[in-house]
Amino acid sequence: MRLEGKVAIVTGAASGFGKGIAERFVREGASVLIADLSAEAGEAVAAALNAERPDAARFVRTDVSRDADTAVAIATAIEAFGGLDIVVNNAGYTHRNKPMAEVTEDEFDRIFAVNVKSIFLSVRHAAPHLAAKGGSILNIASTAGLRPRPGLTWYNSSKGAVITATKSMAVELAPKQIRVNCLCPVLGQTGMTSTFLGEDTPERRAQFLATIPLGRMSTPEDIANAALYLSSDEASMITGVALEVDGGRCI
Ligand SMILES: NC(=O)c1ccc[n+]([C@@H]2O[C@H](COP(=O)([O-])OP(=O)(O)OC[C@H]3O[C@@H](n4cnc5c(N)ncnc54)[C@H](O)[C@@H]3O)[C@@H](O)[C@H]2O)c1
Repeated sequence: MRLEGKVAIVTGAASGFGKGIAERFVREGASVLIADLSAEAGEAVAAALNAERPDAARFVRTDVSRDADTAVAIATAIEAFGGLDIVVNNAGYTHRNKPMAEVTEDEFDRIFAVNVKSIFLSVRHAAPHLAAKGGSILNIASTAGLRPRPGLTWYNSSKGAVITATKSMAVELAPKQIRVNCLCPVLGQTGMTSTFLGEDTPERRAQFLATIPLGRMSTPEDIANAALYLSSDEASMITGVALEVDGGRCI
């Protein structure tokens, strides 16, 4: 029960890494607001968590790139659970793996709106309410922001921005004792995998796996374990880090 009594918002928690984080946080005692575009999947995750522990989770349909939606999600968490301790900015979007000049302007704008602008919107609404003791923001970046490879240039750039924003937010919020960190996962089996790979074939997967020293993709459980540590009071002296969860990929 490492998050007992804490209130968390996890964006993009209807699927993949965010779902794994929400499940782990609830099992560690937190109350979790699931903010996602997908109402059907988000409601299902909340219902399953409430079956484990009554009133452990709530779902609010949210487009994290929209200011009004973000305000409602944060206000709902505070109203439903009586405060706010942890914000996990996890929702993400990417263009399919392709040459950078073939990415459309709409794709570019959406990538930066969902991956970067969302953090700006979220901190504006959340920071005034985050608990002075133990307040934590965790952004989900990517190894793509540390060791970019061809084919995902604008996604890679957005994750580079997430890493720099994390460090800058960490120093700016430190006087309020709010910690800000980010995770850099390597390729994981989620809703985004085939878009990252472009051509999702056994050969392409084998080629990618060969670049990960530990020899496997990341899992939602791997990301949830790291998120749990950085969001808990065990990490109370840790702020501004970009933690690779990548089986050695970035070495
Ligand atoms: N899967 C990987 O290989 C990988 C690697 C590194 C980083 N990441 C990052 O992890 C995060 C989670 O992605 P995932 O891999 O679990 O993918 P996923 O597709 O399984 O989950 C993403 C979730 O975000 C939601 N979402 C998308 N746009 C949204 C919006 N505008 N507002 C609210 N919700 C929105 C989707 O509905 C979905 O539930 C993303 O930030 C992604 O960039 C993924």
